[in-house]
Amino acid sequence: MPARHPAGHGVPAPHAARMWNYWMGGRDNYASDRAAGDAVAGVYPGIVAMAKQSRRFLIRTVRHAARAGVRQFLDIGTGLPTAQNTHQIAQGVAPESRVVYVDNDDLVLAHARALMAATSPEGRTAFLQADYHDPVRIFAEAARVLDFSEPVAVMFMGVLGYEADHGAVRSIVRRTMAAAPSGSLLVLWDGTATCEAVVRGGRRLVEAGGAPYHLRTPEQLADYFTGLEMLDPGLVPLPRWRPDEGDADEPVDAYGAVARKIFRG
Ligand SMILES: C[S@@+](CC[C@H](N)C(=O)[O-])C[C@H]1O[C@@H](n2cnc3c(N)ncnc32)[C@H](O)[C@@H]1O
Repeated sequence: MPARHPAGHGVPAPHAARMWNYWMGGRDNYASDRAAGDAVAGVYPGIVAMAKQSRRFLIRTVRHAARAGVRQFLDIGTGLPTAQNTHQIAQGVAPESRVVYVDNDDLVLAHARALMAATSPEGRTAFLQADYHDPVRIFAEAARVLDFSEPVAVMFMGVLGYEADHGAVRSIVRRTMAAAPSGSLLVLWDGTATCEAVVRGGRRLVEAGGAPYHLRTPEQLADYFTGLEMLDPGLVPLPRWRPDEGDADEPVDAYGAVARKIFRG
């Protein structure tokens, strides 16, 4: 049984954050999440590599941003705590880094204390329960911890597929980056409909009772970066984004990139 979930009555429905936790090899999941997770993995085994590679991508991109001098991180759609969370990576490079985690889910809120564990004494870590459809509120509330006269790394890591409409996602990203100061980074990855099995996996997810997740094309993901300055190597499959020595280069149906908001006078 998971360590941090009290036993409830009845069988809980499979839950997005707990299923992701299961695929990433975590302990915060129920039998129903594991059953649904296995059903998806049965038709799309690549989901496990995607989950693990997404964390490697997070580690490399956050570390890159911190080494480049960014000291503020807005991680939107955080999910459950795992071994290497954004603040641990950022504060590992620059202990004074400030991180605001944002998620709209009650379960993630319930784990917020565990999520923020091991914050460096010099840094700050906070959790905000909010919906990514409302960037105005996110920036207003996050301003208690982050200084929006300084650059911030805005992170959407495998979360925007919960919104069905591509145009709506485009608008979310555009409005969010409009609120961020020049020099800020957009760090984004998402699942792509780049093979038949991943599409079947998406259908199985819904059949197994999970929330639908809308896969995009790489071209649609590229669209989210319009108007920003793409950092090398551009929008690529996750394992190809500045891999560390020893990182596996395996096929993954997920693309990600980092881009900078440039000053327009
Ligand atoms: C796949 S999980 C976590 C992924 C995590 N970013 C990572 O890199 O491991 C997706 C998370 O997005 C959150 N989420 C979904 N829709 C959201 C929304 N409209 N606003 C904020 N968070 C949302 C879910 O609650 C869930 O915790």
